[in-house]
Amino acid sequence: MAMDDTSVYSGSLPDEMATQALAIRLAAVLQSGLVIYLQGDLGAGKTTFTRFLLGALGYAGKVKSPTYTLVESYPLDGFTVYHFDLYRFADPEEWDDAGFRDLFGQDSVCLVEWPDKADALLPRADLTLELAADANGRSYRLIASTDSGQSCLTRFSTQTAAS
Ligand SMILES: Nc1ncnc2c1ncn2[C@@H]1O[C@H](COP(=O)(O)OP(=O)(O)OP(=O)(O)O)[C@@H](O)[C@H]1O
Ligand SMILES: [Mg+2]
Repeated sequence: MAMDDTSVYSGSLPDEMATQALAIRLAAVLQSGLVIYLQGDLGAGKTTFTRFLLGALGYAGKVKSPTYTLVESYPLDGFTVYHFDLYRFADPEEWDDAGFRDLFGQDSVCLVEWPDKADALLPRADLTLELAADANGRSYRLIASTDSGQSCLTRFSTQTAAS
């Protein structure tokens, strides 16, 4: 795992166990209010990562892909996690009608697969997790784009370096 600079952290995820380890490390430094974009092709591992993240946060139930529902919610201690998959998102009006905007705020952590589909409607990301398939399984980049994303990434990298 290498730190490119203070705003980007990258590494490889040879198998699902490695993806779970990444999710556990991120769960330990998450704070309420964060918006996290999950970028990557079909099958890159965005939902798998989210499943592991929710598990690490103490959610014991089933985590369904929000492919058809667009969003699934998970009330946890301290905040609610909203997991979006906007792949099938077609109409910006749907965003307003469904009240998705109200789900973003200080009381939630929002994880968004296929954020580009909602484009300008979406609140900006604090963190972006990019997942890509490669010869060794998967690779990831974790990118901070706001102060709160940066402080999260700093805690993440400090904790990782220490373990
Ligand atoms: N290192 C890895 N990390 C995560 N998943 C992996 C890894 N290696 C293989 N996989 C497999 O890749 C698949 C990832 O599927 P997943 O549904 O998480 O992708 P996704 O990015 O959410 O796709 P979509 O855009 O269709 O929602 C799973 O079948 C998982 O078992
Ligand atoms: Mg998915």
